Amino acid sequence: MPHTGSELAPLGAVIWLTGLSGSGKSTLAQALAQRLKQLGHACYVLDGDVLRTGLNADLGFSPEDRSENIRRAGEVAALFADAGLLCIAAFISPYRDDRALARRACKAPFHEVHVKADLATCEARDPKGLYRKARSGALVGFTGIDAPYEAPVTAELVVETAGVALEVSVERLLGYVLAQVR
Ligand code: ADX
Repeated sequence: MPHTGSELAPLGAVIWLTGLSGSGKSTLAQALAQRLKQLGHACYVLDGDVLRTGLNADLGFSPEDRSENIRRAGEVAALFADAGLLCIAAFISPYRDDRALARRACKAPFHEVHVKADLATCEARDPKGLYRKARSGALVGFTGIDAPYEAPVTAELVVETAGVALEVSVERLLGYVLAQVR
């Protein structure tokens, strides 16, 4: 049977997760990707921690380097979306202007999701021990401690993760994404 143009229309999109370190971005991204794959959606997780070991290994955490980190991440996410994938990007991406630039780089639909947990909760989780280091002065310029986080004001979705079971947050995110891509 011949394919029509609409069948071949790319379904790609970027789901951009922003939030403090320890807010649950990477965990949510992986869980969402797993659920989407089970449902037959092609997706890819683009994670800050991973990108910083390769493509962005030359960048640190100065405001300029963070901006460049997000610029490159936005361009890569846009390419994945252009290829027809659901690209789930998980970056602190602390600056509103940088997130807006990532949105502009993307021709496909771009959904900004604020993975929201208060600082005290993120600090209590401290999965990598970095908050402890930042509090002791061993790490300077840590987001939320002595570097800013500009929370989204116009995110398409806010997923609260403090005091909420992971499965509940994943379902909320999955429900939103499925409503967008169907
Ligand atoms: S972003 O600010 O440029 O968007 P990105 O999401 O790529 O950050 O990387 C964040 C991860 O880098 C954190 O989860 C943490 O593991 C690590 N990290 C190391 N130093 C810092 C720092 N000064 N501020 C925030 N995260 C840091």
